[in-house]
Amino acid sequence: MTPSQNAGALAFFEDLHPPKSRFLDDVLTGLAKRQKSIPPKHFYDAKGSALFDDITGTDDYYVTRTELGILDGIADDIAARAGKDTVVIEPGSGSSVKIDRLLNALDAPAAYVGLDISKDHLISACEDLAARYPGLTVGAICADFTQAVPLGEFPIPDGRRLVFFPGSTIGNFEPDGARSLLCRLRDWLRPGDAILIGADRVKSAEVLENAYDDQQGVTAAFNLNLLTRINRELNGDIDTGAFSHRAVWNAELSRVEMHLVANRDMQFTVSGQTFAMKKGETIHTENSHKFTIDRFTALAASADLSVKTHWSDDRGYFTLYWLERA
Ligand SMILES: C[S@@+](CC[C@H](N)C(=O)[O-])C[C@H]1O[C@@H](n2cnc3c(N)ncnc32)[C@H](O)[C@@H]1O
Repeated sequence: MTPSQNAGALAFFEDLHPPKSRFLDDVLTGLAKRQKSIPPKHFYDAKGSALFDDITGTDDYYVTRTELGILDGIADDIAARAGKDTVVIEPGSGSSVKIDRLLNALDAPAAYVGLDISKDHLISACEDLAARYPGLTVGAICADFTQAVPLGEFPIPDGRRLVFFPGSTIGNFEPDGARSLLCRLRDWLRPGDAILIGADRVKSAEVLENAYDDQQGVTAAFNLNLLTRINRELNGDIDTGAFSHRAVWNAELSRVEMHLVANRDMQFTVSGQTFAMKKGETIHTENSHKFTIDRFTALAASADLSVKTHWSDDRGYFTLYWLERA
């Protein structure tokens, strides 16, 4: 299937965007902890999604380029495994950039469903995709995939499902959360369906830390935008200029951590609640776990998924896995 410039429209849009009260709860609870923390899903307002796209184009962020290269090399294999009339469901679809590789490889895909928490970004990416692939049924679901998503209630066409979960988004979760998310994705599968998932590999601390602290400062802007979002949406008065971005490889836990570091002692309020931070204290905003193939295979097995095959780039930086119900 090849893209065209004809106009297209969404076959359906389902809006399960979490209420603002959930963002507020997460922020108030996270800022009250000893090690302050806010879940990374809250990065993704419209600005955060646009900044993430910019990150993927930086020289230091090897992840997107590497995964796209692998996808290009395995197109025929994927097409053979997926078969005809596939229904592709992509959680955390973002700008739906990688999906072109998959759709172009597949034999007459029947439908594409993007699912993301970032509503406006999701709608425009899926409308854009519908315009590029006029023969394809394109739907969009705005939802938080850390909660149950009732796929059965939506008008998703019948057909063999391929759940496409690229970008190593699975790495944002601690082991228990990753297992729970994989279990939720597994529950979307019927007999014969599969998951194609990308997971970043363990590599040198230098490469990893540079990837999450690029020289152009885009990842720093992405991290700091969370504070701007809190100020705007949750009536905060945080001095965003008093924080800096830090990315550090935690070898023991096999993850890159992103933090917002207070550059001075300070107090601020969010929705009327006051918080104090000491100079040097941090808000932990993201983990990006890195996997060996063995560790990822064990994680999948813990969610009753078995790795049927996997593909990596020559440097062993990144791996895509084909998973089926064990
Ligand atoms: C790391 S980006 C990856 C984007 C794209 N899949 C890629 O491979 O480049 C994570 C994506 O998942 C979405 N996301 C993060 N947490 C989410 C959640 N809890 N529920 C739904 N979408 C989420 C973000 O909005 C963003 O588009």
